[in-house]
Amino acid sequence: MNPVDPDITDGGAPETAPRHQLYGRSKGKALRAAQAARIEGLLPALAIPLDRLGAGPDRIFARPVSEIRLEIGFGGGEHLAAQARQNPGIGYLGVEPFLNGVAKLLAAIEADSLDNIRLLRGDGRDVLSALPEGSLARIDLLYPDPWPKRRQRKRRIVDPAFLDAVVRALRPGGEFRFATDIDDYAGWTLVRILPRTDLVWLAEVAADWSEPWDGWHRTRYEEKALREGRVPGYFRFRKPA
Ligand SMILES: C[S@@+](CC[C@H](N)C(=O)[O-])C[C@H]1O[C@@H](n2cnc3c(N)ncnc32)[C@H](O)[C@@H]1O
Repeated sequence: MNPVDPDITDGGAPETAPRHQLYGRSKGKALRAAQAARIEGLLPALAIPLDRLGAGPDRIFARPVSEIRLEIGFGGGEHLAAQARQNPGIGYLGVEPFLNGVAKLLAAIEADSLDNIRLLRGDGRDVLSALPEGSLARIDLLYPDPWPKRRQRKRRIVDPAFLDAVVRALRPGGEFRFATDIDDYAGWTLVRILPRTDLVWLAEVAADWSEPWDGWHRTRYEEKALREGRVPGYFRFRKPA
């Protein structure tokens, strides 16, 4: 992967005004009884209350947390649950529209009695806009839907409005982390971030983006990408302090 090859971006493609349309699947195969029971019984207690986020996301956790991180599009929640296990003092927000993924994460939360995750079945952009400015230490966007066909690219979640919302929600010194296995999406994202002064790419040498960061836990989508021979890239950007 050469994420800065200008030939793999279509930089300058027109982007329309902010949109909040969700694309992709919201449901898969029928839930098993235990999964359905968790959606009904456990999800309401752990759901992110969008109307209360403005008062500070730390307030929605049952105990004090040292900082708050958000994962947008957690899929089956493997990475999010692993992070929450590794860092019990940190509060995690997870957002995912796909019901079966939400059900999987709920199973992990229950199995490991994780009390530092709150989640929403919905759109990550709604959480970003409900958060107070500067309230997050980190935002992870791991393998967002690639929408590889040229006519579908406008569906990609990374666009100027999304990046503005990311910057607004991050605290100074906070990080936006992005992983993709699609060269074109890496280039697409860098073309949109590198001209900005409110997000700084932290890579100094190739290993900084070709190898995962500390604490990385392989996601389900990444396993599939590797099996199919695609090469992941891992990108960290900091909001200047
Ligand atoms: C390619 S999958 C990757 C899932 C997971 N991060 C992984 O690496 O296994 C992209 C995920 O983003 C979710 N998604 C799409 N649009 C979203 C949005 N606006 N907000 C939150 N999640 C979204 C999809 O439902 C899907 O689960």
